[in-house]
Amino acid sequence: MRTQVGIIGAGPAGLMLSHLLYLHGIDSVVLERKSKDAIENTIRAGVLEQGTVDLLSATGLGERMKREGIIHDGIELQFHNKRHRININELTNGKRIMLYAQHEVIRDLVKARMEASGNLFFSVSDVELHNVTSNSPSITYTHKGEKNELICDFIAGCDGYHGPSRQAIPEDVRVEMEHEYPFGWLGIMTETPLAHPELIYTNHERGFALLSTRTPELQRHYIQVDPNDDIKNWSDDRIWTELHLRTETVDGWRLVDGPIIQKNIVAMRSFICETMRYGQLFLAGDAAHIVPPTGAKGLNLAIGDIQVLARGLKELYNEGKGDILAHYSDICLRRVWKALRFSNWMTMMLHRNKNHSPFEYGIQIAELDYVVSSKAGSTSLAENYAGLPIEWLNESQIIVH
Ligand code: APR
Ligand code: PHB
Repeated sequence: MRTQVGIIGAGPAGLMLSHLLYLHGIDSVVLERKSKDAIENTIRAGVLEQGTVDLLSATGLGERMKREGIIHDGIELQFHNKRHRININELTNGKRIMLYAQHEVIRDLVKARMEASGNLFFSVSDVELHNVTSNSPSITYTHKGEKNELICDFIAGCDGYHGPSRQAIPEDVRVEMEHEYPFGWLGIMTETPLAHPELIYTNHERGFALLSTRTPELQRHYIQVDPNDDIKNWSDDRIWTELHLRTETVDGWRLVDGPIIQKNIVAMRSFICETMRYGQLFLAGDAAHIVPPTGAKGLNLAIGDIQVLARGLKELYNEGKGDILAHYSDICLRRVWKALRFSNWMTMMLHRNKNHSPFEYGIQIAELDYVVSSKAGSTSLAENYAGLPIEWLNESQIIVH
């Protein structure tokens, strides 16, 4: 089989790329290891930046999101058991965020690709990349027991942190950096009413907590735990006790509890592979970078990379210009590094480190106090949370939605 762009991975990055390429008249094939059912039902992130919402709407994917997603104009920061609202909408001249689960975005994308008779192959195995520095790279894979070869002009590695694409870049040219945090997040999905109209990020002496939402009946909450802790140590009662203690306020606010339908623990880290392009291979999304979830950036960064890649491929195929593709890593990395910075900053400001001295704790609370009491401080948080723009090479490349 032959295609223009071979895409490995049907996460938000891979599916969005194939959708945008289709709109530009460029042929692609998506190869996904998991089943359609698995990718459409796995619980992942949930916050969409304004730019992501705009892109989904502008490319015909906004209908269900507008109906079922929940718009938030701000977030709450809580410390010393008091809440402080950051009015994102006001501080960013009208930007908002949308609470709409990643697997819902995936469902909308899969539906759109299938309706357009897009080539999506699920449950493929043995994916391997070949000759990525030649003009005719290829991907071999097994599907329904048969071995196949996909010959492409370009390969997009959208296969997450553990996928084979990044490994196809030789170690001696691959520039990678990793940072581990001594924090983990225990996440729950609970059948309870909405806790609060907006997300609450809490710094408490017992550790961080986050109250988030999925639908009016289904809430998503997190508490900071040891990254090596076992979920078996956390009964539902113990989780609710911690959530109550960490989120109560001096004026007597108390979280409503109820049945927990899913719980898990994830460790937190930052990772970046600065070699986002190697020959005809382009990495995008989690394949190239991981951020801790505190800044809600993972999905949005993946969509940012894809906008650059799709535009670069469009310019090359439709206008014969190779500028954007030639500078793909540079364009993406400016935004990616800023998101790494922001996620690291939010993480360090909100989590309790048991090894911190009273001095370090004092600095942490002063940071929070500065952010909530200074317009400059809260504006900085707001513009990063709502999403920074892609910085194109020159003015003429700026996309206006
Ligand atoms: N062959 C084919 N597909 C693969 C392989 C493989 N060997 N390895 C991984 N994949 C698939 C995964 O099954 C997954 O569906 O690649 C896809 C990668 O998707 P995501 O992990 O969702 O990554 P990405 O599209 O970059 O989106 C980033 O996902 O991890 C979250 O919070 C993160 O929201 C962010 C978003
Ligand atoms: C979520 O709802 O899953 C969520 C929200 C905000 C975050 C991280 C996760 O910062």
